[in-house]
Amino acid sequence: MANSYTIDWLIYYYGTVSITYFPLYYLKHYSHYSATACLTSICSLHGTAVTTVEGIGSIKTRIHPVQERLAKCHGTQCGFCSPGMAMSIYTLLRNHPIPSTEQLMEALGGNLCRCTGYRPILESGKTFCEEPTVCQLQGTGKCCMDQEENQYSLNKKEEMCTELYDKSEFQPYDPSQEPIFPPELIRMAEDPQKKTLYFHGEKVLWISPVSLNELLELRMKYPTAPLVMGNTTVGLNMKVKGEFHPLIISPIGLPALNFVDFKDDGVTIGAGCSLSEMKEILTHAVSEEPKEKTKTYRALLKHLRTLAGQQIRNMATLGGHVASKHDYSDINPVLAAGKAILNLISKDGERQILIEELFTTPSLKEELRPGELIFSVFVPHSRKWEFVFSYRQAQRMENAFAIVNAGMSVHFEEGTNIIQDLKLFFGSVGPTTVSASKTCKQLIGRQWNDEMLRDGIRMVLEEIFILPTTAGATVKYKKTLTTSFFFIFYLSVKKELHELEQRYPDIPETSISALEDFPIKIPEGREMFQCVDPHQSPQDPVGHPVMHQSGIKHATGEAVYYDDIPQVDKELHLAVVTSTRAHAKILSIDISEALKFPGVVDVITAKDVPGENNHEGEILYAEDEVICVGQIICSVAADTHAHARQAAEKVKITYEDVEPRIITIEEAIEHKSFMFEEKKIEKGNVDKAFKHVDEIIEDEVHVGGQEHFYMETQTTLVFPTGEDNEMVIFIGTQFPTHVQDFTAAALGVPRNKIMCHMKRTGGAFGGKVTKPALLGAIAAVAAHKTGHPIRFMLERCDDMLITGGRHPILAKFKVGFMKNGKIKAVDIQYFTNAGCTADESEMVLEFIVLKSENAYDIPNFRCRGRACKTNLPSNTAFRGFGFPQGTLVVENYITAVAIKCGLLPEKVRDMNMYKTPNTTAYKEPFNPEPLLKCWKQCLEKSSFQSRRTAIEEFNKKNDWKKRGIAIIPMKFTVGVPHTSESQAASLVHIYQDGSVLVTHGGCELGQGLHTKMIQIASRELKIPSSYIHLSETSTTTVPNASYTAGSMGTDINGRAVQNACQTLLKRLDPIIKKNPKGKWEDWVSQAFSESISLSATGYFRGYKTYMDWEKEVGHPYPYFVYGAGCSEVEIDCLTGAHKLFRTDIFMDAAFSINPAVDIGQIEGAFIQGMGLYTTEELKYSPEGVLYTRGPDDYKIPTVTEIPEKFYVTLVHSRNPIAIYSSKGLGEAGMFMGSSVFFAIMDAVGAARRKRGLMEPFTMNSPATPELIRMSCVDQFTEQIHRDDPSTFKSWSIHVS
Ligand SMILES: Cc1cc2nc3c(=O)[nH]c(=O)nc-3n(C[C@H](O)[C@H](O)[C@H](O)COP(=O)(O)OP(=O)(O)OC[C@H]3O[C@@H](n4cnc5c(N)ncnc54)[C@H](O)[C@@H]3O)c2cc1C
Ligand code: FES
Repeated sequence: MANSYTIDWLIYYYGTVSITYFPLYYLKHYSHYSATACLTSICSLHGTAVTTVEGIGSIKTRIHPVQERLAKCHGTQCGFCSPGMAMSIYTLLRNHPIPSTEQLMEALGGNLCRCTGYRPILESGKTFCEEPTVCQLQGTGKCCMDQEENQYSLNKKEEMCTELYDKSEFQPYDPSQEPIFPPELIRMAEDPQKKTLYFHGEKVLWISPVSLNELLELRMKYPTAPLVMGNTTVGLNMKVKGEFHPLIISPIGLPALNFVDFKDDGVTIGAGCSLSEMKEILTHAVSEEPKEKTKTYRALLKHLRTLAGQQIRNMATLGGHVASKHDYSDINPVLAAGKAILNLISKDGERQILIEELFTTPSLKEELRPGELIFSVFVPHSRKWEFVFSYRQAQRMENAFAIVNAGMSVHFEEGTNIIQDLKLFFGSVGPTTVSASKTCKQLIGRQWNDEMLRDGIRMVLEEIFILPTTAGATVKYKKTLTTSFFFIFYLSVKKELHELEQRYPDIPETSISALEDFPIKIPEGREMFQCVDPHQSPQDPVGHPVMHQSGIKHATGEAVYYDDIPQVDKELHLAVVTSTRAHAKILSIDISEALKFPGVVDVITAKDVPGENNHEGEILYAEDEVICVGQIICSVAADTHAHARQAAEKVKITYEDVEPRIITIEEAIEHKSFMFEEKKIEKGNVDKAFKHVDEIIEDEVHVGGQEHFYMETQTTLVFPTGEDNEMVIFIGTQFPTHVQDFTAAALGVPRNKIMCHMKRTGGAFGGKVTKPALLGAIAAVAAHKTGHPIRFMLERCDDMLITGGRHPILAKFKVGFMKNGKIKAVDIQYFTNAGCTADESEMVLEFIVLKSENAYDIPNFRCRGRACKTNLPSNTAFRGFGFPQGTLVVENYITAVAIKCGLLPEKVRDMNMYKTPNTTAYKEPFNPEPLLKCWKQCLEKSSFQSRRTAIEEFNKKNDWKKRGIAIIPMKFTVGVPHTSESQAASLVHIYQDGSVLVTHGGCELGQGLHTKMIQIASRELKIPSSYIHLSETSTTTVPNASYTAGSMGTDINGRAVQNACQTLLKRLDPIIKKNPKGKWEDWVSQAFSESISLSATGYFRGYKTYMDWEKEVGHPYPYFVYGAGCSEVEIDCLTGAHKLFRTDIFMDAAFSINPAVDIGQIEGAFIQGMGLYTTEELKYSPEGVLYTRGPDDYKIPTVTEIPEKFYVTLVHSRNPIAIYSSKGLGEAGMFMGSSVFFAIMDAVGAARRKRGLMEPFTMNSPATPELIRMSCVDQFTEQIHRDDPSTFKSWSIHVS
């Protein structure tokens, strides 16, 4: 069972394991499949071989080629997703040693990565694929850049490189070296005397029957026990909804349920077949049978490709899927439309029902008789005059529940277009799949023509009733989707009818693209960066694309995160109890039941905090009052995580609501609920300028917040040493000093008693700057009270609920401009939703205001900002610190100006951009030369103009699909306006054997900081990197270190490391001079014998920055980073889906210390920015409860969303102020994601123009499918009756 333990323990939520089984009854060979570890029940693994990432290779033995290539292609950053990625590729290779790129895409579709932007992960997988699509292999064997030289070549004087890794280093992949399937398991599978398995747990009995008869007996005897098959419904309900089943019957793998039977009239698929197997079966049928027979199969296959991710499809069974009757089921509507039949079986015999009968009763239980189960599903062949289609629209193409889906079929009277039978089934519009049966009946006998369509749409709208309070998307959108799908169905059938009988009219050419789904293609990347000077010492790694220091450890699963540290003696787990009210008095906290719960040691409340419970305005435990939903009220310490969580649910809290309860920015404005003073900058004479402009646009833009969604949730381990009030804390943080400060304050001890250690964390993105301090202090108080070590790891749902995220904003702007597009005046006011406490909100606000002009020289400019205090969890730092939200508004008004002037947005951008040395709105001088270089190169190398022309042509020819393109300039700043916050220190030791240990104050979050520090130390000490080790960051080695944020980690810590190394080298210098031919080890040894200290601290005083808000002048940031990004998309005007074809980013990197790391940061930030602006939508109830608390509801981009062509170029410039003339690039890429948003807006504009809507418009963020669809106003959107808002309470509200 050791392997099973590994599954649950090591691989957290997104973990993937490879499972191999021996299915005698079906395929007669081993089958390997990847599975989601947290939904795989250990009992279900009997007879299977489970391989986890540790099982395929390790540094101690031999790393597997998959692990090696993942690391060397730079596919790991924080490394938390890497074992899962490695296992998905590994499983693919076990089944297909030379996979196709489509198979690779499918294999990775279920894995999430928040750091890399997926491109390098795919690149590593592509090295195993049949098509040599890797850039370096095209054509002549040289880089594809050579072939596109004319199009993409840059200034010849700048030597550009394109290879981020050396393929020749890879060990070859030899499938024959893989482990064999364990013979004892084969013997077990072949054993004719199999015995029923009983697994007795503390509270649960699990029975796995070995024959159908036995299963039917058990089913009859225990009619309420679930049949656990894939466990993807039952398991999820147990985890998320707390369902409990004392008895589980699991016939998973029972041969009688796993079969396929191809017949002349259709195919019967055993209920136990997984959805992946179903996909294989139908693919086979489609390849074997004539087209007209396989229309239902093709409709099913369409959904089987995008339903969940491959890991879930590998687990979920057909029977379990049908029986679950999920409202969002993608399969049931299509099966129903295809008139599939369920074969039911019980001890009393067999019977058949049409699957559609399931949807006429509210629960399957009423449909199935006692003791009955689904034995198999018969899917009939389609017929010549029958047409079957399926549709779905989700927040994201893969791995997301449908907002609405549909299965539709029509059967015509032979040789006519007269409807004989019609089936319309919809998902996600009611409690289960819904049939528009009345409409279908009424349309029988009608001809398939526009009149039928008109009536059909009206009837569908009348029949499909969606409650205005329905969860998820708005009712208006859902209704629009139902009619849009019907319209697409109408066109599809009309086209097929025409193909069958020419006398029926075809659809217009301009409508054909409405029928085409966006393809899922393997993305192609191209990265360009400055080559290292050929005269540079070969030992010097600076400027080279060096692999992440922990890359191999990430890929092998050997990198240790804090929750991987094995349990220590007397350790307790902590779970928190959080407020369910947004603003209320706490009347009572009853912990008596929780204290009685097994394993509970103590419950900790505000009264137990020996020092400050409220430190700097941030509250550890709520005492008398709660100020947001999710505020921590108390915590439970228990022997296991499960006990702590279960006991936490027993704590009873009574509240009395307090008014006002402020949730949205608008409510805050109404109540004048603000934090801090207003921030303002102004240049020129704004009021006067507005009097002399041709046009004025006044509008507002809302930009939603964002969840950090770091893969590793907030985690800490706290050890009370037992003497002198010392506390040792291991914590995933960007700011150990802050954790030390809060813990010391909470315990009432000086900071020197608190030792805070940070080795690595699985992503942070700003979310681990301040919040770990509160959580660390909470754990430390528990450790103090109980005297036990405390392990505190937030579940994803709690992490999302408690820790806040990016600030949602509302911006009200007035822009004055001339008819030629020249902007003369802007007056803009920003409001941020800061949540309930200050946190970093003041700095975020300052950043928004200071950076809000972006790249534009607007002569009269006024920008004001206010932070709104609301009853939401306190929002905090997030990559870009407000810049990505604030500047989206700027580009929005630029676009509005362009529309009003009848100009292309890129013209207006270009016209208003800073062109010559100038000063910012806060009077800081700067030279925009690198900005113009990026802009010009981006325009040229992306072939912008020719693509703009092609897009215009495309849009003329297509009514329902529109393309858009946008190029966005960026003027960004790194660092902070406070010199003291950019100071940094380091400690470098040289040991007698010559090895070097580097320590500094920066934290490794996945951004490759330690890798760069090793490169710097290597250059400075003139020794190979292999001599240098970097272990962890700690308050014991470097005190008072600043946070690792604001893109300045390398800048400031690099200087400190450089300083220490230079000190050491200076000390060694006389020895080296005496023995110039000696080795490093000799010099070190000599220094020791001469009593020369081999340890040095390094220091950097910080950049001289300041901001005078009174005078509105300053030098708040040390330097600028410029860039330009161009993206091209296509939108589906009928569904709101979009496809990103291509992105080009030109980023002013100055000199890159590590191009692989820098490009990784740019790509990762870009994809995160794209998520912010497109798919990531936080939803709140009107009472301030966050609904989106996990990957099911909150959609970060997956591998499918990334650009099909993804080109990144590091543009060379000079930056003498930073180490080696480099630039901090951690955040800048984020805003480049807005090029996707504005390309979408461009396409939406084309759709609106087509319908005569010529007026300027703005778009809020994120541009979700709903927003895109509803912005493409047409007859379908206009037909939807809007429910009177005063008659119901919305399910969700916008807080921006
Ligand atoms: C992360 C995730 C993403 C998902 N995304 C999608 C999606 O995009 N689209 C979509 O349509 N679905 C989606 N699903 C749902 C998924 O398709 C279903 O959960 C799955 O098909 C259920 O099958 P199972 O074998 O896992 O059922 P189980 O969880 O094992 O069982 C489910 C129920 O079915 C009953 N049952 C099982 N077999 C039989 C039988 N033979 N006869 C009678 N009753 C039976 C059980 O008693 C139980 O009540 C997703 C699920 C997850 C976890
Ligand atoms: S590297 Fe993928 S989540 Fe961090």
